[in-house]
Formats: sequence, C-alpha cells, structure tokens
Amino acid sequence: MNLSNFIYYVIEDGRDERDMARNQKDYYYDLAQKEGYRSRASYKLKQIQQQANIINRGDTIVDLGAAPGGWLQVAKELSGGRVLGVDLQKIEEIPGVTTYRGDITADSTIEKILEFAGKGGVDVVLCDAAPNLTGNWALDHARGIELNRAAFECAKKILKPKGTFVVKVFQGDMFKEFFDDVKNEFVHVKAYTPQASRSTSAEIYVIAKKFLTAPIRKGQHYAVEIKELGASGDGIAYVDDFVLFVKETNVGDFVKIKIKDVKPNFGFAEAVETLTELPADPKYGNPVQQRTQTPLSADFEREERMPLRNTSRDNYRPPKQDEEDGE
Ligand SMILES: C[S@@+](CC[C@H](N)C(=O)[O-])C[C@H]1O[C@@H](n2cnc3c(N)ncnc32)[C@H](O)[C@@H]1O
Repeated sequence: MNLSNFIYYVIEDGRDERDMARNQKDYYYDLAQKEGYRSRASYKLKQIQQQANIINRGDTIVDLGAAPGGWLQVAKELSGGRVLGVDLQKIEEIPGVTTYRGDITADSTIEKILEFAGKGGVDVVLCDAAPNLTGNWALDHARGIELNRAAFECAKKILKPKGTFVVKVFQGDMFKEFFDDVKNEFVHVKAYTPQASRSTSAEIYVIAKKFLTAPIRKGQHYAVEIKELGASGDGIAYVDDFVLFVKETNVGDFVKIKIKDVKPNFGFAEAVETLTELPADPKYGNPVQQRTQTPLSADFEREERMPLRNTSRDNYRPPKQDEEDGE
C-alpha cells in the first residue's frame, strides 16, 4: 500500500467507525431509516405534536429551513393540507408538498411565502433552521437568533388569527428577549426539548399557540368609558372595537385601565384611576394604529369576528380566564 492509499484508508475507516457508532447508538437515526423518514428530526416534530398538538387535520403549513424534508413528511401526514417547505438547499420531491429554494432572511423568499399563504394566511409556521455551526458558542447563538427573528417576522405576516408558530432556538443570552417577544404576540408560549434532541445539543423549541391580532397588548394603559355590563358584572369597554372586561366598574364610568391579559377576541383590564372625562389622548401614546406588522390575514379575522361581535354585544357571557388558559 502506498502512502496516499493508506491515508485514504484511514479516513474511510474513521468514517465507517463514526457511522457504525451512530447506527448503534442513535435510536432515532435507525428509526428514521426504518420508517422511511428523511431525517431523525422527524421524531422531534412528532414529539412536539404529542406534547402540544400543534397540527390539525387540514392545516396549511409553512416549514422554514426544511431540508432534507423530515418535518415536511410528518407535517403532510398530520395535516393532509397544503404544505410549503423552504430551504437554502434543494429539497427532493415529497408528494403533495410545495418546495422553494431560498434564504428565509431574503425579501425575495418572503415574497414567495406570502404568495403561497394568500390572503387567508396559514395555520402553522414551523422553523427548524440552523446556521452552519462554527463551534463558537456566542457566534452560533447570534446567527441562530437572526434566523429565529426572520422566521418570527415571517410568521407574523402570514399566520391566521390563533395560528401556531414553532421555532428551534439555540440557547444563549439572547434567548430570553426573543422568548418574551414571542410571548407578546401569542396567548400560550412555552419552551420544550423533545426527547429526540441530542442530550449534548443546546437546542430548545419555542411553541407558541393562538397568534394575537388584537390591537392592544398586555401592560398598556388606556382611558376608556365603560359602555356596558357583562353577565358576570364586569364593565365592558372598547378600544378600537376590541372588547375589554374591566372589573369593578359601572356603565358610564371614565377610567384609566391597565391591560392585564389579551385573548384573541377580548381582553381583561383593571381600573387604575377614576377620571372625570376622557383625556385628549385616550391611548396614552400606545401604538394602536402603528403596528409595524399588519397581518395579511387581518381581513380574514374581521370577517370571522363580525358575527361573534354582534352576539357578544347583545348577550355576552364573558368566559372565565381559567377556561381560556387551560391547555
Ligand atoms: C436541521 S436542518 C432542518 C431539518 C428538517 N427539519 C428535517 O426534518 O429534515 C436545518 C436547515 O436549515 C437550513 N437553513 C439554514 N439557514 C437558512 C436560511 N437562511 N434560509 C433557509 N434555510 C436555511 C439549512 O440549509 C438546513 O437544511
């Protein structure tokens, strides 16, 4: 054997050993091979589904960072609906799944995704995208967060009201800020590590359900007039047509309120000050009309909500907070 053959042999041998070790040790790798999934990551999505029931039959789904397509296979199986996968890499064909090759941080890619979503929007946005890891923890974390933010911005543009967003995040010092930003846009948000994630991995999945398209946010202040009383005796006020329940108030009261909780179709507030009249700026500078993201699906939401609102005004039984929160 000459030297170059010897080097080749050693490298190949090393590869074989690594592959053998992986095959022997990696339960999900083996399972994916056996069950015909393109990646072991398929089982992460299956476990997320078991944990949080994120995909329903008929859902329209966009998967960002989708190659080689393990999540796409699972998403299609679970929903049976329209599914789009986007990746820098080419995704080999999956029956019934649309694919697009592009960078999720590029405007041109977002345009394509918006086209797919159409006016009605999509039910679920998934993102398992990962940057090429360098081994430099801080750098990898920062590049991961950049992808997470691109996916989040995309989700805000295309999700239907009450839609779901699931995104893989590499943990680090920017995690909390990202997590809080997601929490501000969805009713239920939690972080979850599926069993199929490698124990050595810093990845964690943020699962966000019930996308909020309400014009208001928790913690904001408004000056309002109490217009009606709900069945439970709480006062009802409106901010830009959005229903707010305000405890211990009466019809005709002018009050400064603080938003305590926001649900897709109504919110809860507490009165923090009694006023003699509504001030010039009843919104206290809150950017009600100036949200940077107007969801594509805003019209869809209006159409959906219209009949509900009429009933609510005539005969409203405010749901208890616990009923809505219990998941
Ligand atoms: C862990 S893999 C996804 C695996 C996939 N969920 C599956 O089950 O097969 C991460 C993917 O993110 C993609 N990716 C990374 N940066 C991207 C970007 N800026 N735009 C689109 N895809 C990106 C990579 O090309 C890679 O295919």
